Amino acid sequence: MSTITREEAVVRNELGYRSFSAGKFRFVRDEYFAHVYYPKGRHVMPIDGFLRALMRDVAWGFFYGTVNFDHVLGTINHYGTVDMFLGLNNPAYRAGNRAYIESFDSSDLREVFVAMLEDWTIEGFDPFAAPAETGTPFGPKRGSNSAAVGRLRVVADRMVGLPGDTPRRTDTAGFTVNRQFADVPQDEPEVHAEAGFEGEVHAFSLFGYLSRSDVTWNPSVCSVVGDSLMCPTTEEQILPITHGNDRVEWFIQASDEIIWDVEDGATGAMRAKVVMKAGDVAAMPADIKHRGYSPKRSMLIVWENNDHSLPERYAKGEFKPYPVEF
Ligand code: PHB
Ligand code: FE
Repeated sequence: MSTITREEAVVRNELGYRSFSAGKFRFVRDEYFAHVYYPKGRHVMPIDGFLRALMRDVAWGFFYGTVNFDHVLGTINHYGTVDMFLGLNNPAYRAGNRAYIESFDSSDLREVFVAMLEDWTIEGFDPFAAPAETGTPFGPKRGSNSAAVGRLRVVADRMVGLPGDTPRRTDTAGFTVNRQFADVPQDEPEVHAEAGFEGEVHAFSLFGYLSRSDVTWNPSVCSVVGDSLMCPTTEEQILPITHGNDRVEWFIQASDEIIWDVEDGATGAMRAKVVMKAGDVAAMPADIKHRGYSPKRSMLIVWENNDHSLPERYAKGEFKPYPVEF
């Protein structure tokens, strides 16, 4: 396990950006790129893609399984500890002896990622927004955007909007209907609960709720029943990470269309192109990685199984990597 030493003096480069280290990794930003130095070389990523991926990794607490920033850099969640790697799932990196992996305490690495995201996101750039709805991340250090990078994900204990749980998004809370969802009705269902069940029965318009989402590719947790999590999200342009599943996930396409590239989780070999249109349902296997393309803003429901015994049981072969045999 690598330990992270906190840098006492904040050193900035000539562009005004801080550099960060975690274990043997060192991160440097310039006007266009993030440079990731590691013991076997240097990896370069466009800063827009890097910040969008970093935003998700931070907001989701390293998510389920693997978060690939691109074909080289990524993190693997072990739920308490996290691996950061370069080239691990990349056959050319492995063959060329350039793959590298280090383990961290999750909260230590998270602290570095949060500080990097805060320092490298400049005024006007919102890494959660659709590219058409945000300013540029390029250039020298110019202000910051703490409001955008500090957003909290909506995570319900039981159900969004139930008394005592996470509030719903309403226009009065500053959430307006997105330009691409202007046709979505905003009326809400009426709930007539039996006496005594007022705090137990609840409903809201999921289409209305999603039409007012100001973020993209950021599943919220809207209802929870045991380990069953309903995670609706609005998508536009490209999923900023390629997700390596460690369990099966179900997708329900609630509006418009998303095209998914599905690759082998370990090698990246192409497995399938999945075109999901409104109403389509798909199970994404436990041994794949996938990346979605949404030509218009669309609504997707991701159904997650939060049972933390699953990754090990899939890895041992106790379950098939897919849920249904046809
Ligand atoms: C996924 O990797 O399953 C995923 C992540 C973020 C989304 C949608 C799907 O917004
Ligand atoms: Fe996934």
